[in-house]
Amino acid sequence: MRGRLLRAVLLGLACAAPAPALPADPPESSLQVLHWWTSASERRAAKVLATRLGEEGIEWKDNAVPGGAGLGAGKVLKSRVLAGDSPGATQIIGVSVGEWAELGLLRGFDSVAVAGNWNRVLFPTVYSLVQHDGHVVAAPLGIHRINTLFYNRKLFARLQLPPPANWSEFEQAARKLRAAGITPLVQSSEPWQVATLFENLVLAESGPEYYRQLFVRLNPQAAADKRLLQALTHLRTMKGWMQLPLEEQSWTDAVRRFARRDGAMLVMGDWAKAELNEWGYATDDEFSCAPMPGTAKLHLYSVDTLAMLGAEGSRMAAQEKLAKLVVTPAVQQQFNAAKGAVPVRRDADPSGMDSCARDSWTTFASGAAVQAPSLVHRMAADEQSRDAIIAEVHRYFMNDNVTEADVQRRLAAVLRALNSRRRN
Ligand code: BGC
Repeated sequence: MRGRLLRAVLLGLACAAPAPALPADPPESSLQVLHWWTSASERRAAKVLATRLGEEGIEWKDNAVPGGAGLGAGKVLKSRVLAGDSPGATQIIGVSVGEWAELGLLRGFDSVAVAGNWNRVLFPTVYSLVQHDGHVVAAPLGIHRINTLFYNRKLFARLQLPPPANWSEFEQAARKLRAAGITPLVQSSEPWQVATLFENLVLAESGPEYYRQLFVRLNPQAAADKRLLQALTHLRTMKGWMQLPLEEQSWTDAVRRFARRDGAMLVMGDWAKAELNEWGYATDDEFSCAPMPGTAKLHLYSVDTLAMLGAEGSRMAAQEKLAKLVVTPAVQQQFNAAKGAVPVRRDADPSGMDSCARDSWTTFASGAAVQAPSLVHRMAADEQSRDAIIAEVHRYFMNDNVTEADVQRRLAAVLRALNSRRRN
């Protein structure tokens, strides 16, 4: 209901009668950029963009909103747009791009995409994510891999443990770590972080086809599937590998605990790697990453994108400069190395990347059949569907009295409701 109301108000704004023609304003020399990159490595990555934009004569006015996975930024963006104070550029990603575009609030920049050959240089999945109704409405920054298992390499070596490749090796590693007095897994109970484990487990258990039935097509029948039951059971098993009491921590705090050796493994998007590097822990020294067990050849992705807002002609030149510059090979290389992500370009050179990034980029490059869009990071479904599914999974995770059958029944009902809303 609230979503609908907001939609109606935003639509009203988008359709408001144009103001009488005034003399054109001079081109703006700064651009406000709203995003949720607030950790040390995220700030470093944003600074790469700010510096390069500065070299083009445009000042990057930073509007960083705390909240992992964009929880706070989404709210701030809505209220700013409602107040008629939209930032010139904003981080919106996945299905949200289409939602904002549908309201007529995003500036298209087909000419930038054509001049940069985006249809040829971008991975097809990325190119389709930045388009709406055949027009380019967002600029892609990088591809994150969500099915990343971080493990403490030194601890694993000491216990002669290989990184687990499947569920039974995962369980075995957890058992051995426990026996050695080490907490197997560091993880926060924040809802989106719990749901990260869940979407990983669904993918590991079933592969991209079923994953899409559940999270993209929101098929109620998929909720009754045995593979979902298995993913839920595994989620509860993994809860037993964590330190109790569970704590609802930010992702940076969870990474900090992993770095401090509070536990031997952590499942998190690869931005955690950049953060560890930032704090002086080099990849393949203290820690390494491996694909989440059972997903070695798969890529659970989240693609970061920037969209441009505001109808003012005076902003357009700055917005187009930013859109153009983020896709250039040099910025792609520099930004993604700082961010822990990988380039959106098919012509990137994987030989200069670290082991995590190389595996991520080459797996993603092997094509759509291995790619699965992250629900948590808005790649699979709209905000309301995402939130409803995450709430069910979180409830199950937190309360051991909730059974798998309960979740399956409730999820089927949620998916039915979401589907009927889609039809209306
Ligand atoms: C974004 C990343 C960000 C992460 C943690 C994801 O949704 O794509 O850029 O680092 O959230 O906040």
